[in-house]
Amino acid sequence: MKKLAAYYFSGTGNTKYVTEKLCKLLAPEFCASITEIPCIIDFGAFKSADVVLIAFPIYGSAPPIPVRQFAYKIRELAAGKEFIVVTTQFMFSGDGAASLGRALIKWGGKVNFAEHINMPNNISDCKFLKVKNGDELTPMLEKANRRIEKFANRILAEKRFRRGFNIVSHAVGYLSQRALFRKHEHERTGKLNIDANKCIGCGLCVKKCPVKNLYLENGKAQPQNKCALCYRCVNLCPQSAIRLIGKSAPDIKYKGVGN
Ligand SMILES: Cc1cc2nc3c(=O)[nH]c(=O)nc-3n(C[C@H](O)[C@H](O)[C@H](O)COP(=O)(O)O)c2cc1C
Repeated sequence: MKKLAAYYFSGTGNTKYVTEKLCKLLAPEFCASITEIPCIIDFGAFKSADVVLIAFPIYGSAPPIPVRQFAYKIRELAAGKEFIVVTTQFMFSGDGAASLGRALIKWGGKVNFAEHINMPNNISDCKFLKVKNGDELTPMLEKANRRIEKFANRILAEKRFRRGFNIVSHAVGYLSQRALFRKHEHERTGKLNIDANKCIGCGLCVKKCPVKNLYLENGKAQPQNKCALCYRCVNLCPQSAIRLIGKSAPDIKYKGVGN
């Protein structure tokens, strides 16, 4: 039995869902430990693993900042390791998995498996993007489940498969999204907007923020400038008081999968 150390970042649950499903399908050939980024205490599981799986949502054809910070920490440990890279996205990333995969290879790692799984959109405060929930998600989830199963079978059969690692995907990912997104990403980390008139100080966003970007002051939630842009708080806020890119807070929030 091979040891698999799986690390995932998930703002609103899609990537958690995919990681858990994939690890379940890979058992019993693989014995998997699953750790959420950035809740990592030590790299013991990483060091002793035969294979490391890294899963993340695509933000502008690239990994979110917490995943890039995680990757930076493991760069010295990557040499000789086998990696599986999995991304979730609602539509398209071009070379999303390869955007991390290339760095892992540069640091001496081997990436034999990479896949993109289309999952529901979680950006709920943008008028141009529709958020779906419940039964509306069934067709998309059925498709995603089939792709996860196919990917698991490829891994078990040791048939190398790397989505998005070709030059065309690289060019499309960079030119259509990454170049533009990177320009605005850091500025956005300090732009989470909380409507003080709506906020009731319940503290849910403070408790759930994966990067501890929020705190309570005088009974109101306050953002700092290290938002991961993950949309967890935007979608969880019971008062719809939080927005990130939109001009107004969401009418319909993304409830996540498996809820
Ligand atoms: C800041 C941000 C940028 C995103 N950029 C893309 C993108 O470039 N392409 C895409 O298809 N989906 C994009 N998405 C959608 C997410 O990748 C998708 O909904 C993902 O499955 C969310 O995963 P999670 O629930 O694990 O956080 C973006 C989402 C956010 C919050």
